[in-house]
Amino acid sequence: MAPSIACVATLAALLSPLTFAQVTAGCTTDSFTVTSWLIDDFESSGTIVQFQAHNRATNTSAQVSCQASRNSTVWQSCTTAGNASSLLASIQLEATVARIRVNETWVCNDLTPSRPLNFAAQGEAPVPITCNADTCTPSSTGPVLIKSVLSAPFPLSPSAVPGPSGHDKNGCAAGSRTPSWEVFSTQLNLRNVSGRIEGGNAFIQLRNTITDYRASCFGTLSGTAPATLQCSAQSSGRPRAPKYNINTVLTFSPGSFVLVEIFGVGTARLPLECSAVGETTTYCAGDPATFTGRLISEKPIPPFSLGDPLPTAPSCTISSVVAPSWRFSDFETTSTSGSSLGSIRFGIELNTGAALTGYPSTFFRSGVPVSANATESGTGAWYPCVLESVGEQSLTPTACAFRYDAAAQSLALSADWRCSDLDASRPVSFTGDLRTAVPNLTCSTTADRTRCATAPGQAWAANVTDVYWGN
Ligand SMILES: *[C@@H]1O[C@H](CO)[C@@H](O)[C@H](O)[C@H]1NC(C)=O
Ligand SMILES: *[C@@H]1O[C@H](CO)[C@@H](O)[C@H](O)[C@H]1NC(C)=O
Ligand SMILES: *[C@@H]1O[C@H](CO)[C@@H](O)[C@H](O)[C@H]1NC(C)=O
Ligand SMILES: *[C@@H]1O[C@H](CO)[C@@H](O)[C@H](O)[C@H]1NC(C)=O
Ligand SMILES: *[C@@H]1O[C@H](CO)[C@@H](O)[C@H](O)[C@H]1NC(C)=O
Ligand SMILES: *[C@@H]1O[C@H](CO)[C@@H](O)[C@H](O)[C@H]1NC(C)=O
Ligand SMILES: *[C@@H]1O[C@H](CO)[C@@H](O)[C@H](O)[C@H]1NC(C)=O
Ligand SMILES: *[C@@H]1O[C@H](CO)[C@@H](O)[C@H](O)[C@H]1NC(C)=O
Repeated sequence: MAPSIACVATLAALLSPLTFAQVTAGCTTDSFTVTSWLIDDFESSGTIVQFQAHNRATNTSAQVSCQASRNSTVWQSCTTAGNASSLLASIQLEATVARIRVNETWVCNDLTPSRPLNFAAQGEAPVPITCNADTCTPSSTGPVLIKSVLSAPFPLSPSAVPGPSGHDKNGCAAGSRTPSWEVFSTQLNLRNVSGRIEGGNAFIQLRNTITDYRASCFGTLSGTAPATLQCSAQSSGRPRAPKYNINTVLTFSPGSFVLVEIFGVGTARLPLECSAVGETTTYCAGDPATFTGRLISEKPIPPFSLGDPLPTAPSCTISSVVAPSWRFSDFETTSTSGSSLGSIRFGIELNTGAALTGYPSTFFRSGVPVSANATESGTGAWYPCVLESVGEQSLTPTACAFRYDAAAQSLALSADWRCSDLDASRPVSFTGDLRTAVPNLTCSTTADRTRCATAPGQAWAANVTDVYWGN
């Protein structure tokens, strides 16, 4: 083994720090989302300041030391230990606060092995400090977060995501150790055959009294066995999905038809008023009731992660940088005999790592050469796309032009598109070309009209080459 270890060491020494790519899983997506630093182990004695800067995207740390005069509003630059880091920091040491600026560049190639991506980010944050004559210490324990703005591959400041409902309410953590819920609405429809409950449905709404999170639960009942109701948030139209979603599970037992159980954490008997509304139907409604539960687990999560951007599957932006591709569907050409020109239609949607929306946009254009013997009448010309119907707008080209070679069934597309999924205030523009063979075209002629189309529902992907981006 020894020779191979020596070999690795030599290789590491030969690589310059800036080209040392991070193959760590998640490097690319984390760099586009959770890029920020945690400042920890802050110490200051005399004019020496030291701290640890942890890059949350690359999971690397640098030991930083600075020569900083007190009460100065001049940025004083720091040095970073070792040669392995391309992190630059500077500091201002004021009476009650140390201001820290960080610049860092790094490379990720976990999603693009043959085409490493360069990232550069900057950020600044104050670290509250308490100073005596000679030393300063952080005013609170725990790390300080420096949020960053990316400047490469393009300017981007990933948007924070709302944490779960109520997570920032006063007393959330302490109160959650004695959870309690208010059931504020209960409605049951029971199938009651000669005094025997044979089924029905239940609709129950409850509120976590600590976080104020409200859930609506619904389910069907079969006999008197306990039933699990599906619960969902009574949301008020948030702009983006919150992280760490709250999951409510409600088990309802109509056996005594007055028992509500929050799975594993609490049970309550609900006062209900029931009345027959037909020969075999009993309707019950409940008054609000509160019950307390029991905490079943509590565990720490990484600092500052509640408000981090979503740990997104390759989204519009990331897919467009890493492996842009379009999904084509519903391709058809029509032509009439005696004319070499006809019309062309196709559906298109940007492929992302996320599930397809199922709503492609459609482009349609007439007056283009679409028959196989139309070569001399202008194959080779580019035609601007005309939008016929918009599906998922955010995954639709903002502009495009195409060229169709009917003889070769080859479609070329040059498209512009825009992504604003990571930072709504700074959309990123992309442009790129592709050439694709239209698969499985079936032609039929009725009267003098020829229609050639792909099978209904058939779709195919085409990779974009030569992609360019910028804000
Ligand atoms: C970050 O690095 C530390 C060691 O440097 C390792 O223990 C930890 O698992 C890493 N975390 C992630 C998310 O990769
Ligand atoms: C810094 O400013 C504070 C408050 O203005 C003062 O008490 C302290 O003596 C100053 N320290 C130095 C080293 O100038
Ligand atoms: C950094 O690299 C330079 C030469 O490239 C070398 O002289 C120096 O000793 C290195 N420093 C450390 C801390 O490795
Ligand atoms: C950090 O980067 C920004 C933008 O590239 C630059 O203006 C600034 O001077 C840099 N700061 C340091 C401490 O290198
Ligand atoms: C079912 O109906 C009977 C009358 O047929 C009534 O006495 C009984 O209370 C009802 N049961 C429930 C659970 O409502
Ligand atoms: C060529 O086009 C003409 C008129 O568009 C059509 O009548 C003829 O059948 C076509 N020939 C072939 C071989 O497709
Ligand atoms: C398209 O053609 C290919 C190859 O001829 C075939 O494997 C595939 O099943 C066809 N797809 C459809 C939807 O007809
Ligand atoms: C398209 O790109 C994907 C991902 O980069 C790759 O796996 C696939 O082979 C490419 N397809 C073609 C036809 O080049």
